[in-house]
Amino acid sequence: MKVLLIGSGGREHALAWKLAQSPRLTALYAAPGNPGIAEEATLVDIDTADNAAVLAFCRKETIDFVVVGPEAPLVAGLADTLRDAGIAVFGPSAAAAQLEGSKGFTKDICAKYNIPTGAYQRFTSAEPAKAYVREQGAPIVIKADGLAAGKGVTVAMTLDEALDAVDSCFSGIFGAAGAEVVVEAYLDGEEASFFCLCDGKTALALASAQDHKRVGDGDTGPNTGGMGAYSPAPVMTPDMVERTMREIIEPTIAGMADSGHPFTGVLFAGLMITPKGPELIEYNVRFGDPECQVLMMRLKSDLLPLLHAAATGTLASARAEWRDEAALTVVMASKGYPGAYEKNTPIAAIPRADTETKVFHAGTALKDGHLVATGGRVLNVTAMGGSVSAAKDKAYAALDRVEWGNGFCRRDIGWQAVEREKA
Ligand code: AMP
Ligand code: GLY
Repeated sequence: MKVLLIGSGGREHALAWKLAQSPRLTALYAAPGNPGIAEEATLVDIDTADNAAVLAFCRKETIDFVVVGPEAPLVAGLADTLRDAGIAVFGPSAAAAQLEGSKGFTKDICAKYNIPTGAYQRFTSAEPAKAYVREQGAPIVIKADGLAAGKGVTVAMTLDEALDAVDSCFSGIFGAAGAEVVVEAYLDGEEASFFCLCDGKTALALASAQDHKRVGDGDTGPNTGGMGAYSPAPVMTPDMVERTMREIIEPTIAGMADSGHPFTGVLFAGLMITPKGPELIEYNVRFGDPECQVLMMRLKSDLLPLLHAAATGTLASARAEWRDEAALTVVMASKGYPGAYEKNTPIAAIPRADTETKVFHAGTALKDGHLVATGGRVLNVTAMGGSVSAAKDKAYAALDRVEWGNGFCRRDIGWQAVEREKA
């Protein structure tokens, strides 16, 4: 099978690394890719925001299957363009990608199909939103409806903070994404991420993970795309997985099919495990980054037929097998991230992979033959171990061999699981 992978982050490096191990793969291309992905795939220089250009490349190279990593091309209808042209694609239609692209859309699906989530209302202007906020009181959560690069959510602990968040959404700082606002009840509990493959009618549970969104140790400082992750998430016990599938994932898949927008691809559920059980915080329609990196380390099965089964409606007979060990990844980012940072700083050395450690590339590039950091999140140092604590020790031992003066990382990735393991 000739495969084209779309994307250029650590998530896509992990997917490329795993796809490249498939005996069914005949050629792997990646657009635009990065220097880590280049070790597994032929990089192609096409504009992945240009659906017609991607289709033209697929026709020229007779690509059999396209795997889309990030959400932006999905929301922009890349999967529709390819599917309409008869090319198998892993990733939802633009209509189904609204599960990530519009928080209001997802909340309406939850309401219609009785899926547990925080009580909510949708607003298109500030005054009624503020009246509702005052009526509900704090803590309360204010969300820009559309994609806002992870910055559109305010968990307001006071009424003033909530009212300010409503005003700032409607002030236009999030552009079109903030033209509508969802005000939602605050959920208290432990968060977990849960991933399933979907083929429009069937969902196959993959695995759980926990990420660390804040930039600083002890979960302090501003939110980021994710500073590290581990899998499995201890809160996702077999009972909680079973309840999540039955109460959240399966009704979503049935509801999307019922509403004429069957969901295919990977469904990434952000969950709050509350005293009542799992509740949905949000959906993403792609793998998490860096959660994908730990999932790919743990996946024993061949990834390519699993993704292809999701794309072709044949998941009912598929199975995914997992290594029992834990995997943990630590993100190394450019100093200053998630604020401004210097670009093109040199990375002199990265430790070689072995059976239990692997460094995935995110924001790296080659300049005159030398590896440099070009992005905020740059390297994902990933390791397996018999426990999260063991995986953590191995990941940090590898990380300490990275030679990159402008890099920094959190030192406490996995702390919740490590504390449980000590107890
Ligand atoms: P989201 O962008 O929807 O993932 O939200 C970002 C973060 O805000 C989540 O990971 C949670 O930590 C928090 N959050 C979102 N919605 C809620 C909620 N209803 N209750 C409590 N925390 C929330
Ligand atoms: N790490 C969180 C995300 O990919 O959305």
